[in-house]
Amino acid sequence: MDYRAFVEEQIAEIRKEVGEGTTINALSGGVDSSVVTALGFRALGNRLKTVFIDSALMREGEPDRVVKTFADIGIPVQKVDARADFLTALKGLTDPEEKRNAVTFTFYKTVFGRLVRETGAKSLLHGTILTDIEETVAGIKRQHNILAQLGINPEKEYGYRVLEPLKTLRKDGVREVAKILGLPKDITQRIPFPGPALATRIVGEVTEERLAVVRAATAIVEEELGDTGAFQYLAVLLNDRATGIQDGKREFGQIIVVRCLNSVDARVATPVDLPWEKLHRICKRITSIKDVNRCLYDLTPKPPATIEYI
Ligand code: XMP
Repeated sequence: MDYRAFVEEQIAEIRKEVGEGTTINALSGGVDSSVVTALGFRALGNRLKTVFIDSALMREGEPDRVVKTFADIGIPVQKVDARADFLTALKGLTDPEEKRNAVTFTFYKTVFGRLVRETGAKSLLHGTILTDIEETVAGIKRQHNILAQLGINPEKEYGYRVLEPLKTLRKDGVREVAKILGLPKDITQRIPFPGPALATRIVGEVTEERLAVVRAATAIVEEELGDTGAFQYLAVLLNDRATGIQDGKREFGQIIVVRCLNSVDARVATPVDLPWEKLHRICKRITSIKDVNRCLYDLTPKPPATIEYI
């Protein structure tokens, strides 16, 4: 594929679709939404309004880091505090698909609906890629960002049109386009992180307290496994508890699962043979998180497992 021609075509297409109006887009800092942001900014300049939605589900320091990375390349990003919207919507939910639906609904209806009304934008520029569509249509998983393919008409239901310039590309193609657009390495080489964010790494209810535990474990795993070159590595908080000992007393503590996988496009994945020494270090650091007394390494490939836990 000629990715340079692809970039020019998409810029022209965005200009044609948006006309004289403004459009809005949500940047998560992942490669897909970053590419959409850079394409949209090239096409529309200040008529693109880019927001970073702080959903309470992001990793440590992520909102400020993403805003700064884009400020450094001249693209303004506004941070929107929607933590209460997401935490309220997720309260009491334990079923994986219900949790995913709650994130989708809060994102597209509550938060975007509000932003679209406030800004007068008629459309949303969106980072959906081909794999998202294929997995949703195949019924493997409902990716949070799939609307039309599930029969949701965003114009009718949410009040805006959705433009998806990356919907013919897979991840490797998106990375090529990112390079052409001059995006920095920490974006083009960033490991995948799912749209519903840490909500996909908590089995059971998503609460502020449980998010704090998985966020701390995620920071440790990313720090320890950043040098492996693996496709993806992550930490998951289970809903079970196990007996352990803390300060000489029995406690019924929490369990963290660590995953580190090699893959090309996330459709199949194999676990990495990490050195025992590394695993011991990770285990020691993770069980130092308050209330966590077990740390497990998951050796299951995809399939039969998926990469995330919900
Ligand atoms: P699974 O867990 O289905 O994940 O094996 C495959 C890849 O997709 C990421 N993932 C998502 N990405 N929205 C996204 O943008 C989602 O809802 C979503 N769910 C999973 C996951 O991190 C992995 O790289």
